[in-house]
Amino acid sequence: MPKKPIILTTGWGHPVDDNQNSETAGRKGPILLEDSHLIDKLASFGRERIPERPVHARGAGAYGFFEVTNDVTKYCKAKFLEKLGKKTPVFARFSTSSGERGSAETERDLRGFSIKFYTEEGNWDFVGNSSPIFGIRKPVYFPEWQHIHKKDPSTNCKNYDMFWDFLSLVHESVHHLTYIFGPRGIPDGYRHMNGYGTNTYKWVNSKGEDFFVKFHFHTEIGTKNLSSKEAEKIMGEDPDYATRDLFNYISQGKEAIWKFSVQVIPFEEGLHYKWDIYDDTKVWPHSDYPLIEVGRVVLNRNPTNYFFEVEQSAFSPANMVPGIEASNDRMLQARIFSYSDAQRYRLGGNFGSIPINFPHMARVHNYMRDGMMSITKNGGKDVSYEPNTVNDTPKEDNEYKMKEFKVQGEAMVHRLRYATSDFEQPGILYRRVFKGIEKDELITNLYESMKNVTKRHILEKECEYFYNCDPEYGTKISQALRLPVHQSKL
Ligand code: HEM
Repeated sequence: MPKKPIILTTGWGHPVDDNQNSETAGRKGPILLEDSHLIDKLASFGRERIPERPVHARGAGAYGFFEVTNDVTKYCKAKFLEKLGKKTPVFARFSTSSGERGSAETERDLRGFSIKFYTEEGNWDFVGNSSPIFGIRKPVYFPEWQHIHKKDPSTNCKNYDMFWDFLSLVHESVHHLTYIFGPRGIPDGYRHMNGYGTNTYKWVNSKGEDFFVKFHFHTEIGTKNLSSKEAEKIMGEDPDYATRDLFNYISQGKEAIWKFSVQVIPFEEGLHYKWDIYDDTKVWPHSDYPLIEVGRVVLNRNPTNYFFEVEQSAFSPANMVPGIEASNDRMLQARIFSYSDAQRYRLGGNFGSIPINFPHMARVHNYMRDGMMSITKNGGKDVSYEPNTVNDTPKEDNEYKMKEFKVQGEAMVHRLRYATSDFEQPGILYRRVFKGIEKDELITNLYESMKNVTKRHILEKECEYFYNCDPEYGTKISQALRLPVHQSKL
């Protein structure tokens, strides 16, 4: 028996008799308003696009699992870390940072690195980047920091003056610039890049002891980066290069794997560490705090519908589980507000019910109700208020209270001052980490961008910063730009 063809229907399930023609008044007359099939199709099409993420708009995702490979329970009480071999399902999304949703994927830019861990205590969202440092440490700069990476408001084109003008006034950015314009600034696809939490978080163990931590994910196949020339060529040939690479790799039955490690500093010790514990423009040298293995993340399944699973995914540093807490890192504090706020706008107030975001390994019981697109049971007939005297209603459990910390001082706009140098670490990156040819690459990449700046004072200031990091570094870039060489008066 031949299989019956699937009947085409409208969105309401009505069979459609003709999907090639429209209902008209007479053979060549106007289309009738009663052709609801055509109207529905056009109305649905007109609403296909939702706001793109304000940053990290271009991305790719995949499913897999996390497995504990080392006992870290003396630092963290999170249930998903409780025993060796324990597995937790994950969904990861990788992205470029500044480009729009349709932009090319081999731009010189930070890459986003997010992993949603669906744990039995709710979702833990790791939301990191491909670089261990960030360009600013004050969240009040964040919107402007993004504006300079995007298009000129007047021309809608890249504007090198606005990019370098801002940076030449924010010298904490020089570490990030040295990293991004260096040999690691264009990862070769997503499988070959590392992910770093960058901000400082806290881990708390079952005894209530707390630790400052930084998160690291190292790709098992080793890092690989593209040169500017290679990246430009790929941009022309395949703007979807990184997404295609990850998708094809997993389609072939292969696994993309990362080792998850942490750097750990006991709380009191952290407060007196040489590098300010809350400054995300600095690394914690591994010689001071070596990596401690935690587990591995394995990605082995592609999404089946990009919009449903990847575009609608919502990651937020606010999504932490018991045992993982925020530190006073100002950038992190602001991020805790900003992500869900952006997602309520981008996806609507009930974005947590979208299957990719729903904490499906945990139970959700609360008194929140209603709102647009309420597509779950909306609490059914359960009571919607608390406190209440009704039996078997959700109650708080003091066992999950956060670790307390002391705060003192006046409430006011405090100027952020760090005693440590903004130039020492990028100097070390230039001298000790980058090899000869990589240093040349850094100078060339900077030159290729800075040569477009039309205002000399911007270039001079920026070159002073490079000089402060390392005299050879500053001299080379100044010479390339035909500028006098000098040190910053800072
Ligand atoms: C004050 C600082 C920051 C603010 C206010 C901020 C804000 C945002 C916002 C609003 C989004 C879009 C969220 C969405 O629509 O789903 C986003 C995405 C993202 N941010 Fe940040 N961000 C900050 C710093 C950082 C830092 C330091 C990192 C990395 C360590 C980072 C990594 C990411 C990533 C990876 C995404 C994309 C997440 C995804 O795949 O959906 N951001 N950020």
